[in-house]
Amino acid sequence: MKNYKYLIAWIGGKSRLRKKIAQLIPNDIKGYIEPFGGGAWVLFYKDKWADLEIYNDLDERLITLFNVVKYHPCELARQMCFMLSSRKQFNEYLNSYCVTDIQKSAQFLFLVNHSFGSNCSQFATSKSRGIKSAYGIIQRINEISKRLDKVLIENKNAIDLIKQYDSKTQFFYCDPPYSKGAGYKVCSTKDFKHEELSQTLKTIKGRFLLSYDDSPKIRKLYKGFEIINISRIKGINNINVKDKEYKEILIKNY
Ligand SMILES: C[S@@+](CC[C@H](N)C(=O)[O-])C[C@H]1O[C@@H](n2cnc3c(N)ncnc32)[C@H](O)[C@@H]1O
Repeated sequence: MKNYKYLIAWIGGKSRLRKKIAQLIPNDIKGYIEPFGGGAWVLFYKDKWADLEIYNDLDERLITLFNVVKYHPCELARQMCFMLSSRKQFNEYLNSYCVTDIQKSAQFLFLVNHSFGSNCSQFATSKSRGIKSAYGIIQRINEISKRLDKVLIENKNAIDLIKQYDSKTQFFYCDPPYSKGAGYKVCSTKDFKHEELSQTLKTIKGRFLLSYDDSPKIRKLYKGFEIINISRIKGINNINVKDKEYKEILIKNY
């Protein structure tokens, strides 16, 4: 199976864990839904998960980006050709105003691609690997555009989306903000309603697989469900974690 597809690195993105996660996804599902889409690393791991596939996120920047990648890949790639991988350009884009969705997406893609931890605020370059390839991103736009052909893109609160699309044959891969760690533009870690998500998932008819940090609070919320321990080498968003390995859990109701 080809597994190189992705568009952007994202805070909390499942680049390192998607292979393990993919192995746990049942193959008799009719719908594959990601209520907390982010960079959609698990969605893009496979060329097709089910007849119905939904990408959702509350962050409008991601929604605009994925819609533009889906419907205007050539225009977006053309805009990206004029963007130079430089610190000066990065700092200019931080404060500039865009009119069209294509311009907005090009700028957002540039900032995500060139920032420390995809935080869109600090220009990043690596002493060993240098700067990101400008051609690589253009190639990815074309690949992901094709991958999104039959993917429905939604911009809702995850809880509402889960309730709206729930049925016996649906599968939800849920990757919410963790109980500790990085927050998001749409919701800080502190403000996310973990209890509400837990109450919703406990009552759905469909199957869910849920990613979380390994914390007593989360274990308590999902007591009674199967909890799988996994770990990964810590990323730059977990620099305060002492161990090299960052412990996570996967929770499932099937
Ligand atoms: C951990 S990230 C998802 C990462 C993704 N699985 C990946 O591999 O790139 C969590 C995402 O949830 C989104 N989010 C936070 N609160 C949300 C909410 N209430 N409804 C929908 N999306 C939300 C954030 O914008 C963020 O993109």
